[in-house]
Amino acid sequence: MSDPRASVSQPTAIDEHQERIEGDTNRSPQRIAYQQEFLDEATHRVLAEDAEHFLHQSLSTPCIDAIVEAEGIYLHDISGRKIMDFHGNGVHQVGFRHPRVMQAVKDQIDVMPFCTRRYTNQVAVNLAQRLAEVTPGSLSKVLFAPGGTSAIGMAMKLARIATGRYKTISMWGSFHGASMDVISVGGQALFSEGLGPLLPGALHIRPPISEDCPFGCEKRCNRSCAEYVRHIMQNEGGIAAVIAEPIRWSTVTLPLAEYWQRIRELCDEYGVLLVFDEIGTALGRTGRMFAYEHFGVEPDIVVIGKGFGGGVMPLAGIVARPELDVAGDRAIGHYTHEKNPVSCAAGLATIETIVDDDLVGRADRLGQLAVDELQRLREKHSCIREIRGAGLLIGVELQDHSQFGPSHQLAERIMYGAMARGLSFKVSSGNVLTLVPPLVISEDELRQAISILDECLQDLTTD
Ligand SMILES: Cc1ncc(COP(=O)(O)O)c(C=O)c1O
Repeated sequence: MSDPRASVSQPTAIDEHQERIEGDTNRSPQRIAYQQEFLDEATHRVLAEDAEHFLHQSLSTPCIDAIVEAEGIYLHDISGRKIMDFHGNGVHQVGFRHPRVMQAVKDQIDVMPFCTRRYTNQVAVNLAQRLAEVTPGSLSKVLFAPGGTSAIGMAMKLARIATGRYKTISMWGSFHGASMDVISVGGQALFSEGLGPLLPGALHIRPPISEDCPFGCEKRCNRSCAEYVRHIMQNEGGIAAVIAEPIRWSTVTLPLAEYWQRIRELCDEYGVLLVFDEIGTALGRTGRMFAYEHFGVEPDIVVIGKGFGGGVMPLAGIVARPELDVAGDRAIGHYTHEKNPVSCAAGLATIETIVDDDLVGRADRLGQLAVDELQRLREKHSCIREIRGAGLLIGVELQDHSQFGPSHQLAERIMYGAMARGLSFKVSSGNVLTLVPPLVISEDELRQAISILDECLQDLTTD
């Protein structure tokens, strides 16, 4: 018998920029230096065990640090350090271990930890109803899944079934999940390179960003990018759905409202469904319950995840227009944990907390404060190119600096400088500091985080 290992070849190396689009690299010398300076022996042991037992992959193993506790806006690591978590994978709108979510989960586990398929349960029904209530517009029919990627897959299937077409339009540079179907609509080589043919008909467009606009438009007009979508719909035909984040969560890229309004018109004209991936942006993050509210448009399907499970349980889902309830004889999701009562209890407590504590209004107010403060830093530090924000989703984009170096190196130095001072966030696209604090953060804590950033920026001039 032949040795199966003989067929294992070294995959081609991924382009360095591609590696950085979704998050900071886990293979940099800066990371090693940080670990040597700040982590104790016990942590190094766990990190080594992690590296031994898990398959290594970009953005994950080898890991940066090992944590033992998460509470509110803080992580506590093995070395005894307390770290403000402005990353949290975006699951922590209500912070970690929110008492209301924790209690709901504990109560539910004690009574009914699972719901076998074919049965339903009151908590799942309550969550579906409550989710529909807080979703603006006509979207009201719900399906749950254990993770965002699976929920995007459900939206893709529903769009195919409802339209009888299979092609999609999505954006280069986007991330919608890492499974084989969903990487077809994603636009990053990091997730698809070397994996062979993906889904046919997955067409990609340039996101509506202003730099180097191929249409030569003025800053942020977004007009030609939208008209290009018409061109595709007209000439390609057979488009089932436009799938996109209304605000790109990782780089905090906000199109103009006119862009989404035009795309909505085009979708209506060509019978195409508009699917918004709000896995990172929904449930208050951007100062609205859903990010699409900023643009005055309504999608046909919205996909949520991440913080839906309150930072405790994995939970995602789609909310669709009622007219899309057309697949009663097919299986769109069929996930084992589709109506998991513990996840649903977490989801329900999360939504109630967001509503009762007005975390949406809080995100809006604190987000504005943070952006104002960061604009002040921008005046002080010339390596900051732009501050972008929607609620408590904030991007600090850096630019190359003649004295301090290329923006991706500056971003890494700032990130590790901040980690050393107890503030964690991710870097997207190599040069965007992506700040995603829990919506329960206090004003003092937010100011403290910004002054840490100020110190790190200051360090660039003195290092
Ligand atoms: C915009 C977006 N869509 C989809 C996903 C995939 O969600 P999950 O990791 O829960 O499968 C993510 C995860 O980071 C995301 O940021």
